[in-house]
Amino acid sequence: MLTSTERLNLRASAVRSVADEVIEVTFESPVGTDLPVWKPGAHIELRLPSGLSRQYSLCGDPQDRSTYTIAVLREEAGRGGSRELHEIARRGAEFDVRVPKNDFPLVESDSYLFIGGGIGITPLIPMIADARRRGATWKLVYGGRSATSMAYRDMLAAHGDVVDVWIEEERGYPDLPQILASSPASTQVYTCGPGAMIDAVSKEVQKHVHLGGLHFERFGASGPIDTSGGSFEVELRRTGVTFTVPEGCPILNQVHEVLPDHPFSCEEGYCGECEARVIEGEPDHRDDYLTAEEQKQGNVMMICVSRCKSARLVLDL
Ligand code: FES
Repeated sequence: MLTSTERLNLRASAVRSVADEVIEVTFESPVGTDLPVWKPGAHIELRLPSGLSRQYSLCGDPQDRSTYTIAVLREEAGRGGSRELHEIARRGAEFDVRVPKNDFPLVESDSYLFIGGGIGITPLIPMIADARRRGATWKLVYGGRSATSMAYRDMLAAHGDVVDVWIEEERGYPDLPQILASSPASTQVYTCGPGAMIDAVSKEVQKHVHLGGLHFERFGASGPIDTSGGSFEVELRRTGVTFTVPEGCPILNQVHEVLPDHPFSCEEGYCGECEARVIEGEPDHRDDYLTAEEQKQGNVMMICVSRCKSARLVLDL
């Protein structure tokens, strides 16, 4: 049953293993209602029983209004969201799900290069289907540690030469200079996966000016979280509360003491969920979500990792 315009109560209709430590979960409405529409690149957010919220890219067919499908890698070293989901995801289990949101839209183009790393393949799957449907030229470079760690590898490889599977233990890392140089002019490059891979693609793309543009979505932070730099004061202007954020403590934790529903997901500065508008003060941006230009403007900040250069920060919360 739909519980609000924003959140849905959905039931897992199927759960299956699609690679080492990766499960695919398909959701449906318990009463058979059509689900809200989405486009390639969209994600849903699951609120787990522990209170953790996690975002997962939709990897099914956007034309299918009856189901949403995600694939989730169990990350032992993570903060517990994927472990919890792996433990509770069973056919018939119900989940609190936010309607799809798209921070990674597919622009119209005649040519695409998709570069996926590990579980970062998921948003690229509906993008590829869309590119095929429109008759666009496309190529996929799909990198993974080992053959059995790569979800949907066989399904994708069945497209033939347009799919280049890089199994790292056999071939090493993808040859980005060659791959980018050989892409047609005006190709739109879409990449998703680990931070180091995205950083490498971003750096290399700059050398290939014939390409159309780069679009990426991170599935991990680019480096360790740095909470050093001393304490500062934060005022939540609309709530009328002021508190001190000590060194080592994320602003988000303190905000949750007062506003437990303030959205968040990754807690590592790459998903954009915890964004807050800045009214006064100089943010010390430490996120991977905002562009350098957006960080310079200083109007918004990611309060899970970013801090403050001035003594006081006033947020529009
Ligand atoms: S929770 Fe993801 S950027 Fe802050």
